[in-house]
Amino acid sequence: MDGNGRWARARGQMRTQGHLEGLKAAKRIVKAAADMGIRYLTLYTFSTENWKRAAGEVNFIMGLVRKYLRGELDFYRENGIRIRHAGDTTGLPPDIAAELKAACEETGNFDGLQVILALNYGGRDEIVRAVRRAALGGTDLASATEATIRLFLDNPDVPDPDLVIRSAGEFRISNFLLWEGAYAEYYVSPVLWPDWTEKELRAALEAFGKRERKFGGIVP
Ligand code: IPE
Ligand code: MG
Repeated sequence: MDGNGRWARARGQMRTQGHLEGLKAAKRIVKAAADMGIRYLTLYTFSTENWKRAAGEVNFIMGLVRKYLRGELDFYRENGIRIRHAGDTTGLPPDIAAELKAACEETGNFDGLQVILALNYGGRDEIVRAVRRAALGGTDLASATEATIRLFLDNPDVPDPDLVIRSAGEFRISNFLLWEGAYAEYYVSPVLWPDWTEKELRAALEAFGKRERKFGGIVP
């Protein structure tokens, strides 16, 4: 979800205003995805690198996350949305970690769209933590396979993404789902995240529908 800052600057507003509008866009897209019957949606909300930003901006984003987790339970219930987390919980402010845990538990039985909040998430960090967890649990890493590593990722039961979408026109992965996205289709839209509506999501899915996926093989 990129482009909040640019959206605000284009209007002579504070970056925080862009994040506020970005949250509204996230709600629109979550609702649209749930209505379309999409099963999994991972939102790259805050990366392990985003801590480099000014404290005021970081605190504002964390405040939004806290409010969103706490205030949307009715919305999750009505739409059967299950909230999950990807990322390093230990590096999160304790109140956010607690709020996240509560939201995950309270929505744990909902069987609609699963929204995975990538919060304090980095793809390399996820792999490093997976290897550490495996070692701590006594796994024989010398004979590790891809399946071994996968087992220790943050959400091993969530299938690899079919489609990775980036808003705001940048052709970068920015440390997102490095392991899981190995064979994902990538889609970059020039539209800044706060301007995203169901229309942009549909355009992304339409483009995805035209891709020829070969997973390293050849099409017969
Ligand atoms: C939002 O967009 C992404 C978050 C880290 C929440 P940005 O804040 O990166 O927006 P730009 O790139 O400055 O436009
Ligand atoms: Mg950005």
